[in-house]
Amino acid sequence: MVINLSKEFSLVSTWVAELRDTEIQKDMMRFRRNLERISEVAAYEISKKLEWKEIDVTTPLGTSTTKILKQQPVVASILRAGIPMHNGLLNYFDKAESAFIAAYRKHSPDGSFQISLEYMSCPELEGKVVIISDPMIATGSSLVKTIQFLKQEGDIKELHIICAIACTVGIEYVLRELPKAIIWCGDIDDELTAKGYIVPGLGDAGDLAFGPKLQS
Ligand code: URA
Repeated sequence: MVINLSKEFSLVSTWVAELRDTEIQKDMMRFRRNLERISEVAAYEISKKLEWKEIDVTTPLGTSTTKILKQQPVVASILRAGIPMHNGLLNYFDKAESAFIAAYRKHSPDGSFQISLEYMSCPELEGKVVIISDPMIATGSSLVKTIQFLKQEGDIKELHIICAIACTVGIEYVLRELPKAIIWCGDIDDELTAKGYIVPGLGDAGDLAFGPKLQS
């Protein structure tokens, strides 16, 4: 299942527009904050799909029956570009545990690249709801590889993927490999370049959030 958060008129479209805008992109703090805001909205929408239980809360004047999450999700991110969206998820799922994975494109001289996974810090995932953030779903290969890696840590009960912009072919690939996943996107673009960049997209999300890096 794919949910495009820009399909209905909402503030998400404004934040996605700011992420794409080359002038506004000069402000790294605003770029990070817009990623964070999109993931906060995604967190709220995802929360409606989770399981809840009733509890009684004692107020100064009586008792109120209210609802809390039956189980805390695990929030996972692909470093480094996933960090702002990770923060947004934790702003809302404030009791969630976290998992971190380093995945990056290792470029060859011929212009091709392979996904390299290097570091994982992860809690128990057996029977858990996992929400993973990756700002750009381009080919989808790093995301799928990361999730397959995570699955070694337990049988995930429910998988939500959040991103700022997804490319149509990337979505198709992810859903072919992970048919039960639910993908929440800030927006969806159709084109992908041979170098794996989304068009019109926004550029390199990691560089725009944290500054340019030395190429590997
Ligand atoms: N990752 C990015 O940061 N941007 C793209 O367009 C594709 C992948």
